[in-house]
Amino acid sequence: MRRLHKLVFAGLVGLIALGVWLIPLPGTAQAATRHITLDAAQFAFAPGRVHVNQGDRVVITLTASDVVHGFYLDGYGLEQRVEPGVEQQITFVADKAGKFRYRCAVNCGSLHPFMIGELVVESNTPYWRAIGFVLVMVGGMFFYLWQTGKNQEVMHDQ
Ligand code: CUA
Repeated sequence: MRRLHKLVFAGLVGLIALGVWLIPLPGTAQAATRHITLDAAQFAFAPGRVHVNQGDRVVITLTASDVVHGFYLDGYGLEQRVEPGVEQQITFVADKAGKFRYRCAVNCGSLHPFMIGELVVESNTPYWRAIGFVLVMVGGMFFYLWQTGKNQEVMHDQ
């Protein structure tokens, strides 16, 4: 292939790979607002695990049903104290994927250190997309090498 052809080809492979990576597909989770009610009581949060999607706006309504508790979210650095009978609201965008612990931030009794829950933020880049991206890139590379090899054979023949 001539130099320009090679450049155009490399560009096309890159674009297709990016398309596999980025183009939104039906069925892919859209960013949404998620309302979650989280109750703190000695010595657990209910629910103990919360699932959201990356990019979601998360609105947590925090309540305490016995004594004063706190809510601290690892990774996001959010903290809120909550007293019985007084609801608190925490709003944030779950822009970081992964698993983050939330823990009680007010000493509420003997088992306070074990008052821990987990926020799971699902990644917006599903596994198969990453695989597709790699396959297109590798496929393009092999095609490129094959073409280059063919050109060299032709040159040898001449
Ligand atoms: Cu609840 Cu400390």
